Amino acid sequence: MVYKNILETIGNTPIVELHSFNAGLSKLYIKLEYANPAGSIKDRIGLSMIENAEKEGLLKPGDTLIEATAGNTGLGLALVAAQKGYKLTLVIPDKMSKEKVDHLRAMGTEIIMTRSDVGKGHPEYYQDYAERLASENPDAYYINQFSNPSNPKAHELTTGPEIWKQMDQNVDAIVVGVGSAGTISGLTSFFKQKKPDMNFVLADPAGSVLKDYFHEKKIKEAGSWLVEGIGEDFIPGQMDYSLVKEAYEVTDKEAFDTARKLLRDEGIFAGSSTGILVAAAVKYAQQTQSAQNILTFACDTGNKYLSKMYNDTWLEENV
Ligand SMILES: Cc1ncc(COP(=O)(O)O)c(C=O)c1O
Repeated sequence: MVYKNILETIGNTPIVELHSFNAGLSKLYIKLEYANPAGSIKDRIGLSMIENAEKEGLLKPGDTLIEATAGNTGLGLALVAAQKGYKLTLVIPDKMSKEKVDHLRAMGTEIIMTRSDVGKGHPEYYQDYAERLASENPDAYYINQFSNPSNPKAHELTTGPEIWKQMDQNVDAIVVGVGSAGTISGLTSFFKQKKPDMNFVLADPAGSVLKDYFHEKKIKEAGSWLVEGIGEDFIPGQMDYSLVKEAYEVTDKEAFDTARKLLRDEGIFAGSSTGILVAAAVKYAQQTQSAQNILTFACDTGNKYLSKMYNDTWLEENV
């Protein structure tokens, strides 16, 4: 079929079975979110956050959208903003990959780089910075994926139903990473209706506080990690632990090794967070006693990490 415009190609991403990992009695499946037009799962929320703001009358033609993002949400927003005639300014922490920033600049986005080494509450922290910028400009709209209900809604209304249909309702566990918590919360809302005993498995970078909070209900001191897009030093307001049954932490090295194996052995060229997700899916598969259908995501494309985890020199120097 022919689509009327690029925005219609968001979603309906394929699911592929994996064969090269030791999953015990279980089967592993991966939903290729990199097949979205700007290359990640975040295209879904770019569309829903802008279209819902339009429906609520919060945007007028030519307005500037402002967001704090590690990259992929920015790309999703840039795609939708350009099609709909909005300007976009992004505040980005300076650890983010050059490919993402170059891609955003090429899409016409204004980029403000800020520090990655400061936490929430610091004026240079990317989210505080973006919020301040939006409050100073009357023609600006702060997207704020961290508390925008259209973020989880996108997953409740698209990602969840797609999984349910594509897997023919035969899915027992979903392995997710958490950034803004939109994916996990939206999927949890959907599966509470369809399959309330769904096993959600949290995949967290070593250094993030989310896994320990699940086990101990305490926020430990955060460390640092190289994987982009998931893991937090706070518990996102939208976080929903209610269907989470297990949580695993994965080191940067395990993540990069897993992502590179995924490319070598399965031909799936995904980003660094996918390494965390697949590694956690394998841990869960090996630990569970029953045969389960376990689904996870390739959240973004490996193209954005050619100068990092797919570069041997970078790996030797950084990991
Ligand atoms: C690159 C990337 N961004 C974001 C997410 C999830 O994000 P959120 O919790 O913001 O929905 C993932 C999930 O694995 C991811 O890999």
